[in-house]
Formats: sequence, structure tokens, C-alpha cells
Amino acid sequence: MSISNNASGNLSTNLENRLQIEHLLNAATLSASALTEKSDVIAGLTQTPKSIQARYFYDDYGSQLFEQICELPEYYLTRTETAILQECAIAISQLTGACELVELGSGSSTKTRILLDAYNQLDYPLHYQSIDVSAGILESSAKALLADYPYLQVHALVSTYELALKQLKPSPLPNRVICFIGSSLGNLNPQECQSFFAQITKALQPGEYFLLGIDLHKSKDVLEPAYNDSQGVTAAFNLNMLNHLNQRFDGNFDLTQFEHLAFYNETERQIEMHLRSVCSQTVRLNALDLTIDLASDETILTEISRKFDLNTIEQELQAQGLNPTHVWTDANQKFGVLLCRLLH
Ligand code: AVJ
Repeated sequence: MSISNNASGNLSTNLENRLQIEHLLNAATLSASALTEKSDVIAGLTQTPKSIQARYFYDDYGSQLFEQICELPEYYLTRTETAILQECAIAISQLTGACELVELGSGSSTKTRILLDAYNQLDYPLHYQSIDVSAGILESSAKALLADYPYLQVHALVSTYELALKQLKPSPLPNRVICFIGSSLGNLNPQECQSFFAQITKALQPGEYFLLGIDLHKSKDVLEPAYNDSQGVTAAFNLNMLNHLNQRFDGNFDLTQFEHLAFYNETERQIEMHLRSVCSQTVRLNALDLTIDLASDETILTEISRKFDLNTIEQELQAQGLNPTHVWTDANQKFGVLLCRLLH
């Protein structure tokens, strides 16, 4: 076998050379964040009204359910954003030049492929850092990508956004784009949104990019069905959060005693997802040494999904030094994709 054969054989078959998986959420690094994590859950469940952070949706099964949500006829978000990205990906790659893609909440990385294809077409080297709290989906998507892109290098990080952004190493390529697509920004309240933008600004070098995909404000006749699908996948996704908490904190939530509830709060411009207790009940989470009482009909807020106005969000980005130089939407203005550049 010749050396060149060997080298290219290694490239396409030996995944280890092109894949690095790093666990920031492992036992060693977790102790500090586990403490804040526990106190976050305790705080949410002992305040009135009760709430649980939306990131608890995403255990491995929750990530699978979310992939199913993205395929639902009522859930227009993923389809619309995908179509926009297909329209603008080449322009984005031309604007940024060769750059490392860093994706927060990468999940299945399906939409990322559109960007990788665009960079690939321009013959740019492909470096991708995927960041997700679910190790299962992170690893399977990374391997699927490597199989399909023989020259791709993947650095997969099992981590929250905060932790990952704090420890980003300098880009191996001339430029970098941090991608936050899928309207995950909608999960952050206005205050959290401001501090998130500040963290992005800190993680980027001047001249580097931030690519943001956001769902836009629209009629509740379109919004509410997207979170109340006829097949009940969103309900299963919502309820699975209790299962995840049971596993993680040795709890005894009885999933049959809760109901999915989702509606558009027009004043706050946010979809709210709740779990409603169908009876008066007591729940115990042993690992948190926590006992909570729920009244019949009492709700636990599990997610806000804010719906944005393009002009407002552009101003907020600009105020943080993230200059939104290019904005793309679909013909019905359902969804927006913004390319921002950190000012020098
Ligand atoms: C991942 C936050 C964009 O708010 O639409 C989908 C999550 N929740 N169905 C959204 C979700 C219920 C999703 N985001």
C-alpha cells in the first residue's frame, strides 16, 4: 500500500483523527456546575409560580422527540429556517471566508450541513465545533457528519452554552462564526438574552461572526398549533422533562398526573409551555432532598419561546457591538436569519 493511499484511507475511515469529543459536563468538571444546577432546580420548584429550566428537555430521549417535532406539519420553524439557509448559505460563506463553525445547541446538526456544503463548495477547510448538553445526539451527529464530509474536523463538546463559550480556544482558521440557530434564543428572557449576547461578544475576536436564527412574532392561529400538534409529540416532549428529572435526581414524578399546556402570551410575545398537575399531589426528589406539593390545576412553567421583532433585535445586537450586517427572511416573514459581525 502506498503512503498516499494510506493517508487518504486514514482520512476517510479513521474517525479518531478527525473527531474529538470533550465532556465539560463530566464528574470532574460537574461538581461546581452540579451545585448551581441543583440549586436552580430547587429554586424553580419552590417558587410561585413553579418553573423548571428548558434545558432539562434535552436528555437523549428528549433530543429525539425534539427531532420529531421539527418534522411536524404544524411546526413551521425548522422548515422555514432551512429554506432561508438554503437561500443564503453561499452568501454567508462568501462573506465570512474560511472559518470555523461553532454551533451552540447543535442537536442533529441537520441545518449545519447546509452551511458546511456552502463552505465546501468554496473549497474552504471545514472545522466544526458542536456543543450540546445531550452526549448521545452529539456523538451520533458528529459521526454521521464525518462519514459524509471526508475532510471535516469535528470537535464535539458536551456542555452548556455558558461553559463552552468561556473556554473557546482561538479558531484554527482565519475566521470564526458562532451559530445559534433554531430560535433557541427564544428560551431566554430579555435579561438573559442581554447577558447571552455579552457572552458571545466576549467569546469572539473583533471581525468574527455571530449567526442567529429567530422565530418572528405572528398570529396565534399559526403559533399555537406549532406547540399543540395533533400527534401529541410536543406533549410527550414536555412530559419527558419530568422523566429526565426523575432519572437525574432520583424523583417520583408520575407522568400520568400531569398535562401538557401551551399558549401564546400576546403581551409578552412568548409561547409558554406548562405542565398542569391534574390532582393535588406530593412529589419527592431524593437527590435534592426536596419535597414539593402541587395543588390540583397548579402549573409548572417549562419553557418560554419568545417571538421576535426584527428591528428590535437588530438594535439590541448593535447595542452589544454585534453589527447585524445581513438579514434574511422568508416571503411570509415567519423567521429571520441574521449575520452579525463583532465590531473592531
Ligand atoms: C428549540 C426553543 C426553538 O421554542 O420552538 C419546540 C423548542 N418546544 N416545541 C421552540 C420547542 C416545543 C423550540 N426551541
